[in-house]
Amino acid sequence: MTEHIDIKRINSDLRYRFECIAKFLNFTSDDIAMLNTFAPLVFPLIPVLADTVYRKLFSFDITKQYFLKRNERFEGFLPKKQCGLTLESAPVVLRKDMVGIYLKRVLTEHEWNDTFLQYLSQIGKLHTDEAGSASLNVDYIHINALLGYLENVLIKTVCNIDTMDEKTKCGILMAVNKLFWIQNDLFTMHFLRALNNNGASQNSTEKDKTTTCCWA
Ligand code: HEM
Repeated sequence: MTEHIDIKRINSDLRYRFECIAKFLNFTSDDIAMLNTFAPLVFPLIPVLADTVYRKLFSFDITKQYFLKRNERFEGFLPKKQCGLTLESAPVVLRKDMVGIYLKRVLTEHEWNDTFLQYLSQIGKLHTDEAGSASLNVDYIHINALLGYLENVLIKTVCNIDTMDEKTKCGILMAVNKLFWIQNDLFTMHFLRALNNNGASQNSTEKDKTTTCCWA
């Protein structure tokens, strides 16, 4: 049987969108239970995982610059402080904590109710230019790369657990994979909206210019 999916609703109703993707990926309450099983095992490692993530982001100038810019916004133009922003600086330690809070929340959530879906969606929106003064304007290429990297870090963590049977390990790995594709959709949704909005405003102001988009 072919199920009808309403494209208008996909783009206007977050719960409907999530349910469509969940059905497609076969993300069920069993996957949520697997994430919940994984949570207490990964909790003690979260500070190390958050540090690994920031080490990766700070190992390329193109990703590190977002944090330098963010600091500049909070502290004014302070070149010395910017140059000295390290993985141990207080603002970076605070940001590592934020990553920890995010990981704990996604792994412990039991309900996946509307508030939680809004949270996942809000994280996506924050990284675009569509979140007003909170906008981080991160290019999507880095989001995609970090999602892949973070998923890999978690996969490695699961593989290193030696007190668990293979069936549970497999279940956790599959649930983590689905979680990342769901979160990725809630990033791309906002990036595509931002692209459409920017395209629309550009079209209305620069109708006579030809586009030079590489995939157009
Ligand atoms: C796996 C993908 C990512 C996830 C899940 C994620 C998650 C988060 C979360 C939970 C916050 C804190 C939001 C808040 O409550 O204020 C945050 C903030 C931030 N993220 Fe991301 N992020 C991701 C990718 C990236 C990438 C690739 C960059 C840059 C290259 C980036 C740059 C930032 C910055 C600059 C902040 C603001 C930190 C501050 O408040 O000073 N994020 N992110």
